[in-house]
Amino acid sequence: MTPAQTQKQLLDDAGKYLAGGGTGLFVLPAERNLIVARGEGSRVWDVAGREYIDYHLSSGPALLGHAHPAITAAVSGQLPKGTTFFFLNEPEIELARRLVEAIPCGEVVHYTGSGTEATFYALRIARAFTGRNKVLKFEGAWHGMHDYGLWGTVPSQPSQYPHAAPDSVGVPDETGKTVLVTPFNETERAVAMIEKNAGDLAAVIVEPLQRVLLPEPGFLQAIRDVTRKHGIVLIFDEIVTGFRIAWGGAQEKFGVIPDVACYGKSISGGFPLAAIVGNADIMSVLDARSRPKAEVVWATNTLNGNPVCAAAGLAAIEALSQPGVYAHFQRIGSRLRKGMVEPRLALGHRTDEARPAGQSQREVLHLHRPHRQRRGRDAEHRRRRLRRIALKAHRPHPLSQRNAVRLAAAASARGGARATGGCARRTGQHRRA
Ligand SMILES: Cc1ncc(COP(=O)(O)O)c(C=O)c1O
Repeated sequence: MTPAQTQKQLLDDAGKYLAGGGTGLFVLPAERNLIVARGEGSRVWDVAGREYIDYHLSSGPALLGHAHPAITAAVSGQLPKGTTFFFLNEPEIELARRLVEAIPCGEVVHYTGSGTEATFYALRIARAFTGRNKVLKFEGAWHGMHDYGLWGTVPSQPSQYPHAAPDSVGVPDETGKTVLVTPFNETERAVAMIEKNAGDLAAVIVEPLQRVLLPEPGFLQAIRDVTRKHGIVLIFDEIVTGFRIAWGGAQEKFGVIPDVACYGKSISGGFPLAAIVGNADIMSVLDARSRPKAEVVWATNTLNGNPVCAAAGLAAIEALSQPGVYAHFQRIGSRLRKGMVEPRLALGHRTDEARPAGQSQREVLHLHRPHRQRRGRDAEHRRRRLRRIALKAHRPHPLSQRNAVRLAAAASARGGARATGGCARRTGQHRRA
């Protein structure tokens, strides 16, 4: 068989033996589907022998690239010593120490195997600590696949706040009664909803940079203040932002410190490891040494904190701690964004993701925001500023002109079909943005 035929055979087998033909929701169209044979740095190769630049980064964990030599060496060093014990091991303790040192809200760590488990248990911890049942999440936020997270994540219809429709079939309606949903970045509305339900709320969980939405100035602080006032546990879901937008994550970047935070992706070195990191008092509900068993939160899984994943995580954190790493991320991120956005803008596209290099996401998102939300002098000031940014974004520069010509030629070769950008199912925030 040729490599292309082998790939075709494997794809047929995937369609036959894997539920849904893949690993879940995200399945490539048949004509683009591929089987990854290997990855190295920013590249992956498929079984048919084609090379790709991997912009997907394995959905986050491959922040340092595939087969990073330090991570490979750390894991190879651990494998002959044993892969999992269900007893304490050195790498898990060392990684916990490093997480606590780096993460502003960090006092103690509890490991999980995935981000889904981390947010699921963090909500349970909050319920146990407060003795309350309800939790509040923001519309459009992604907290994983458990029954408390899948409300209003990608609503296809307007949500009836304080509730939203479930994202998945099979999620019990009863769970939804305990999950309140409110729009991200609408500070007054969120604070009012929290105030109104304070007696029942165990936790507010938020992605501090929600998908592509930067928090409005003051939004996170207002949520911090009102949760503190009412003894509600504030959980930052830093599974995307942790060790990625800054060494200390979104907490450091935006200067707001939650009670508890969930980490995954970047801290895993590409292995199945995530963590809940937080205030020792709150996390003490996990402590079977100091409380009767009936009062302990159960959150124990067979492979939690195993030394292979912890060794991978330690190597990843060590690589991320090197000087200049975050400046480098910013630099290459801006360059990439510029290369993707400018040609589209030059062609007259309006994309929610569009962000000229050097401009904040929020500024560009505001370009699409209805002006009626702004009042008085503030509104006028913003309009002028956004107009300046819009003009700057459209100013042709050599690269964008060249790419615009190429893209236009490609579009006319495709019979004039033009990508409109963005996904069909958008959240309320995306629509507003
Ligand atoms: C912000 C956020 N929280 C939680 C999760 C769930 O993590 P996992 O896929 O490891 O279960 C994700 C996954 O993409 C995420 O982006």
